[in-house]
Amino acid sequence: MGLSTTLPRPRARKRSSQGVTLGQVIALANQKGGVAKTTTTLNLAVAFREQGFDVLVVDLDPQGNLTMSQGMDPDSVEVSMFDVLVRGVPIDEVIRRVEVDVAISSIDLAGAELALSGMIGRERALQKALLPVRGRYDFILIDTPPSLGLLTINALTAADSVIVPVQCEYLSLRGLVQLENTLAMIRENLNPVVEIRGILPTMYDGRTLHSREAIEMLKENFGDVVFETRIKKTVRYAEAPVQGSSVLRYDPKGPAAEAYRQLAKEVLNGAQPREHA
Ligand SMILES: Nc1ncnc2c1ncn2[C@@H]1O[C@H](COP(=O)(O)OP(=O)(O)OP(=O)(O)O)[C@@H](O)[C@H]1O
Ligand SMILES: [Mg+2]
Repeated sequence: MGLSTTLPRPRARKRSSQGVTLGQVIALANQKGGVAKTTTTLNLAVAFREQGFDVLVVDLDPQGNLTMSQGMDPDSVEVSMFDVLVRGVPIDEVIRRVEVDVAISSIDLAGAELALSGMIGRERALQKALLPVRGRYDFILIDTPPSLGLLTINALTAADSVIVPVQCEYLSLRGLVQLENTLAMIRENLNPVVEIRGILPTMYDGRTLHSREAIEMLKENFGDVVFETRIKKTVRYAEAPVQGSSVLRYDPKGPAAEAYRQLAKEVLNGAQPREHA
């Protein structure tokens, strides 16, 4: 199909072999819908938590899927990330302590792009909101909506790095070019340090040639920016949120949970939790 000739090489730095800096903000982004952004945000966060790290997850998607997948109803919350971004409410007021700390979303967030669009500093609202809590967490993971609108731009502006979940199929791979172009613009205008931390192949089915070819194409084009961890296709990931749970709590010993522990290990690259007083 010649994808290798249509995808430009991304300006992504290689992962360092010296471990990771803690207190870092990671956005999970891909403008394509249904590629496992939310599933990855929650389960990676819980995998970090299992290892003793303090983790905040920010649900920046008006769909509120992450908020729901921790058993909360985004339709009945009083304050949410909307109020944080648009009204300057302190983020602490919307953080709920569940499997990890979650700054919750609500349907109101759908109006945030419009409300922010007329404001000075509209791209930096999230970065500003996170300042008071950054020192308290080892990791802050941001789940973003399936678009490259102002909410995702806020996430990419606040982030040190981006993890890009990609479904193992040809059409999903093409969207990476658009994401890379957006990141280039963000680097030029808003956040010079943001880099792709890794591309995560999701919904992988090793029995199909198509899945295996998609991985080959990814590696051909993005080299070692592609994580070694592959997230296999299994219904466990859809079952867990129905129980208001991560897959690590829903089926702790299963391979679905293990895959996200493996990803956490790959992202951590040997880093240990901080000593707490
Ligand atoms: N590895 C997997 N195997 C099978 N199903 C999966 C896997 N990962 C996620 N799913 C399911 O696929 C659907 C989409 O996943 P998810 O909601 O995480 O994607 P998303 O990228 O956040 O979607 P959106 O763009 O709408 O926010 C969900 O029903 C989820 O349970
Ligand atoms: Mg989602």
